[in-house]
Amino acid sequence: MSREVETVRPVSAVGASKARQGTCMTGYQNDLIGDHPSILALRALIERVARSPAQNVLIYGPTGTGKGMVARMLHRLSSRASKQFVDINCAAIPSSLLESELFGHEKGAFTGAIDRKVGLVEAANHGTIFLDEIREMEPMLQTKLLSLLDTHEFRRVGAVRTTAVDVRFIAATNKVLLSEVVAGNFREDLYYRLQVVAINIPALAERGDDVLKLSDYFIAKYNGRYGRTIKGLAAETAEIFLQYRWPGNVRELENLIERIFILEDDDVIAPHHLPDRILRTVRGGACAEHPTARIDLAMGFRAATEAYQRQLVEQALAASRNNLKEAAGLLKISRHALRHQMIKLGMTGA
Ligand SMILES: Nc1ncnc2c1ncn2[C@@H]1O[C@H](COP(=O)(O)OP(=O)(O)OP(=O)(O)O)[C@@H](O)[C@H]1O
Ligand SMILES: [Mg+2]
Repeated sequence: MSREVETVRPVSAVGASKARQGTCMTGYQNDLIGDHPSILALRALIERVARSPAQNVLIYGPTGTGKGMVARMLHRLSSRASKQFVDINCAAIPSSLLESELFGHEKGAFTGAIDRKVGLVEAANHGTIFLDEIREMEPMLQTKLLSLLDTHEFRRVGAVRTTAVDVRFIAATNKVLLSEVVAGNFREDLYYRLQVVAINIPALAERGDDVLKLSDYFIAKYNGRYGRTIKGLAAETAEIFLQYRWPGNVRELENLIERIFILEDDDVIAPHHLPDRILRTVRGGACAEHPTARIDLAMGFRAATEAYQRQLVEQALAASRNNLKEAAGLLKISRHALRHQMIKLGMTGA
């Protein structure tokens, strides 16, 4: 056995059992891998919400954390599982099309509407609709969606009568939606309607050694897909994975592992297989993507004060799970004053 192989972290039993599933891709798409306390709590919350009668659910998580995956789990574990799961990316469909895609239209409702069309909301009756990147939905449609969430009825484009439906709406965003409300980009009433049941997915860097379990899992997945026998991460690679901040989260990790499968022949993932960007950030000791918010004299009074204020507001928003009223209460200022501060501090998104 070579020295290199001796230092390898073997793919764990979890990953190996997945490998045996080989080409059964659903096994890979359905598992929420990890046993960090935050992930155990997330899994319990998903199971509870899935079984509950909750009609609206909001999923929040930074990019690549698994929002789409959680939405599919919520559907699969619910009593709606045998009905449709309709996945709509609000950012990918032009808003002019999105309305008739969602609500359908009557014959002759507009030029080109030569037939009556059943929309996705109707098609998903008794099932689930996943509205990904909900922040990108334009205000007019936000109003129509709110009315649908309130009344469980909608009107096809060009229709006189309303149609009743029973659909669970799962919305997802990687933006702090409350900031978008403050900036006037997202309807406040819709935000509070969606936020009744909110599921927050933690960033990968906050999940301790789950990054290693996920690595094992993806290695097993791509061993199956590419007919390879990569054994695992070298010990030093595992150290780097634990220190790196993973700004692209689980997707970044998966893409990195697939890239190594494609470009490298070795059967252990060694540090020299990793991109310079990762090695630089870890070995340099700092993380360019997530600089530590240090407040010191060199910043000058104004910048330092603002940085401190921003930290306080962020803390209050986190503690109140983004409830503006509660956050204002924690800071002992009025809601209006908090909004004003957020705008002043540039915390209201693009
Ligand atoms: N805990 C997990 N276990 C296994 N696979 C995961 C996990 N979390 C995410 N993945 C996988 O990582 C990839 C990214 O997940 P997903 O697309 O659900 O993220 P997202 O939050 O919707 O990303 P984006 O913000 O870019 O839309 C997918 O291939 C998903 O199957
Ligand atoms: Mg997604």
